[in-house]
Amino acid sequence: MQKLFINPKHQLGHINPEIQGHFSEHLGRCIYEGIFVKEDSGIPNVNGMRKDVVAALKEMQIPVLRWPGGCFADEYHWKDGIGPKETRKKMINTHWGGVTEDNSFGTHEFMELCKQLGCKTYINGNVGSGTVQEMSEWVEYMTFEGVSPMADLRKANGHEEPWRVDYFGVGNENWGCGGNMTPEYYANLYRRYQTYVRTYNHERPIKKICGGPNIDDYNWTTGVCDVCFRAPEFLHGFMDGLSIHYYTHPEGWEIKGSALDFDEKVWYKTLSKTLYIEDLINHHGAILDKYDKQHKVGFVVDEWGTWYTCEPGTNPGFLYQQNTIRDALVAGINLNIFNKHCDRVMMANIAQMVNVLQAVILTDGDKMILTPTYHVFNMYKHHQDAELLESYVESEKIGLEDQFMVPSLNESVSIAKDGKIHITLNNLSADRDYEIEGILTDTSVASVKGEIVTGDMHDHNTFEDPEKVKTVAFDGCKIVDNKLVFTIPACSVLHLEVTTD
Ligand code: AHR
Repeated sequence: MQKLFINPKHQLGHINPEIQGHFSEHLGRCIYEGIFVKEDSGIPNVNGMRKDVVAALKEMQIPVLRWPGGCFADEYHWKDGIGPKETRKKMINTHWGGVTEDNSFGTHEFMELCKQLGCKTYINGNVGSGTVQEMSEWVEYMTFEGVSPMADLRKANGHEEPWRVDYFGVGNENWGCGGNMTPEYYANLYRRYQTYVRTYNHERPIKKICGGPNIDDYNWTTGVCDVCFRAPEFLHGFMDGLSIHYYTHPEGWEIKGSALDFDEKVWYKTLSKTLYIEDLINHHGAILDKYDKQHKVGFVVDEWGTWYTCEPGTNPGFLYQQNTIRDALVAGINLNIFNKHCDRVMMANIAQMVNVLQAVILTDGDKMILTPTYHVFNMYKHHQDAELLESYVESEKIGLEDQFMVPSLNESVSIAKDGKIHITLNNLSADRDYEIEGILTDTSVASVKGEIVTGDMHDHNTFEDPEKVKTVAFDGCKIVDNKLVFTIPACSVLHLEVTTD
């Protein structure tokens, strides 16, 4: 029997809804086909946005969406994506398959999508190949209410009211696809570009995100912070977030590994590599702590998730992959870790929302399926805007290879505004169930109900069998002597909702 300790009297921090954010890039079939279709395509849509996809994302309470990239962001010129669609400039999407981008999905379409989703907006600007003027004018175009060249242009293009930009990223992966810069060079550009990301409506300040490290590039974090935090008194409001990118490649960056064809060794290797994100948050956090003593800057893990070898027969530049129970565990583990670090992690955006990498939704023509990852997000939504509670679960080290051992269980717990306690618990074992005894300190438990995503490690949904993996009710948790007693099956992500007297 493993014990799960929860202290409802000890709240450790606020869980920003944005921790469950998403990312949509002009990459493969994410935007085009996955989200945005021709109005006369025969696929039910509202202003081009697929009704089925929007409804599923709303159900999941998508809190924020990042756009237009990724690597695409640093070659995107926003003025090509406004005005009449017939006259919009076409470009080559050099990063992703060399396909023609017709710019039919641009700023107005992104804002329409976010309006339909009811989510916050995270725009990623172009530093790699764009100018300060271009970035500054984009912000003016989107957010300025009065009379100005860009606000007038927006109005001429049919949108009278300014939109709300909640987050603005100043470049993407500028150590790589965003310009191959050194940390010092990028940091100086960051200081300069962010100056012109003006907040015009002071009731809605734009939060600025600085381009952070890849994986364990501590040199980048140090170099950027060294320059950015130099004389910070002159740089009021210069940085709200620092991004981190970390993907789980089971077999490393070169080989990556198959989404469907893997054995138990690779199962544990994948989960172990996923857990590594906690080390990254701790180590980059220790660096940031030295510069940002008041904890004003948060981490924005704006790209995370599994990255496998693309599905056989699909365009390698489109990064289309399947999604199994293994991905459900990867999602559950990451989201629990982000919750536990909610003092630093202000936002996270899984890559990517539809048809790319660890997507929550896959589409094929007018068909749509929800992946195991979707079902995990849908269960975890109860943590959004809640307070993290102190918790600890006993576990053992499991695995098949010394360097890829993992804890058998992984959890996070929060208390929502209505007083309900939400426990999300993952069983990382490929074959072993665990009996759990949940103890809530100084609290009288009134009721418990549960739901679970579980199955064989290879289980996944297909267009032929779309509900092989889904959330099902879990009624195996009993209240015995004021304790929660249950067995969590192997390969599962469990959510328990507890009410107290
Ligand atoms: O998500 C796919 C790509 O991964 C993004 O475009 C880039 O930022 C990262 O390298």
